[in-house]
Amino acid sequence: MPMDLDLAAALRSRRVLVASDAASEGGGVVGVIVFDLEGEAPALIDTVAVAPDRQGRGIGPRLIEAAETEIRAAGAGRVTLYTNVKMAANLALYPRLGYRETGRVTGDGFRRVNFEKTLAPRIALKAPVDGLYGRRRVHGHTIDPTYDRYALDLEAPAAPLVRHFEVPVGAVRLEVGFGGGEHLVHHARSAPDVGLIGVEPFESGMMRAVRDVAAEGLANVRLYLGDARRVLEWLPDGALDRVDILYPDPWHKKKHWKRRFVSVDGLDRLARVLAPGGVVRFASDIPSYVAWTRAHAAAHPAFAMGEDSATPWEGWPGTRYEAKAFREGRTPRYLTLVRA
Ligand SMILES: C[S@@+](CC[C@H](N)C(=O)[O-])C[C@H]1O[C@@H](n2cnc3c(N)ncnc32)[C@H](O)[C@@H]1O
Repeated sequence: MPMDLDLAAALRSRRVLVASDAASEGGGVVGVIVFDLEGEAPALIDTVAVAPDRQGRGIGPRLIEAAETEIRAAGAGRVTLYTNVKMAANLALYPRLGYRETGRVTGDGFRRVNFEKTLAPRIALKAPVDGLYGRRRVHGHTIDPTYDRYALDLEAPAAPLVRHFEVPVGAVRLEVGFGGGEHLVHHARSAPDVGLIGVEPFESGMMRAVRDVAAEGLANVRLYLGDARRVLEWLPDGALDRVDILYPDPWHKKKHWKRRFVSVDGLDRLARVLAPGGVVRFASDIPSYVAWTRAHAAAHPAFAMGEDSATPWEGWPGTRYEAKAFREGRTPRYLTLVRA
């Protein structure tokens, strides 16, 4: 692209990043990117220019990456850019950088191709998870670059929650402790317009889910490797229409009951993030935990008991743990708690 940009004007209203090469002649500027952080979201990258003798060396992608880092740090979740339809190199490059074409328009004497990208959230987890029990601890490192793409970013503002997804979604649901993610993936596939947040602190289960979500290109999924209570603390009020708690660890010993996900505090947290009329789906094969959940729901002012059934919900794909319970002769129960 030609470098005929009015830098002074751009600097007054926008952010400009410059790529320089000390070894080059003429001051060392080999590329420039201009973007607007103050406009309406999504943020707009409106110029990417690379010196003609430096094109094809990765300077443009590095400038775009640097701009995305600033845009994300400023709190924007999406970025748009565009190119002249005649710029075949850009048409090939932008999709490789994760941009999706959103349309073509004619204006200012050229045909313009618009692109948009949802910024991959920053790595969600950098330190060991506190407050989890047993052996299922995570180790404070990035587990896989593909995880980063789908990770829910708890450092970004939670609201509006729908902006955390790569595609437009209506309702948002949360699955707590998804194990290997089979149930999550099934629902993500069958309801592409629903945003699904899956949480699991166990690394190998998370990796299985990441692999399946990526293989199917499920853009309505966000994943969090860690404790679901952290996600609940972060979520905006009334942001969810459903929370699935499927075969949660029962913590049989009385002295461990305080670790149960369903508790007075747990229901308080769930009540805050659920929209009125939203539901908690609870499945368990442990009769004492089912009775405990019934009693807690009955005592909690924000919840009423909906279904209390031996038959699963419509469209139920089962879960890995449920299959094990059946194999071992236990009978599950399916409860629906309704947020008043
Ligand atoms: C018995 S397994 C059930 C897994 C899966 N839902 C299924 O039905 O196959 C319970 C799951 O909850 C997860 N878990 C335990 N504590 C959790 C917490 N605080 N936040 C999120 N997940 C948790 C465990 O790692 C485990 O994968």
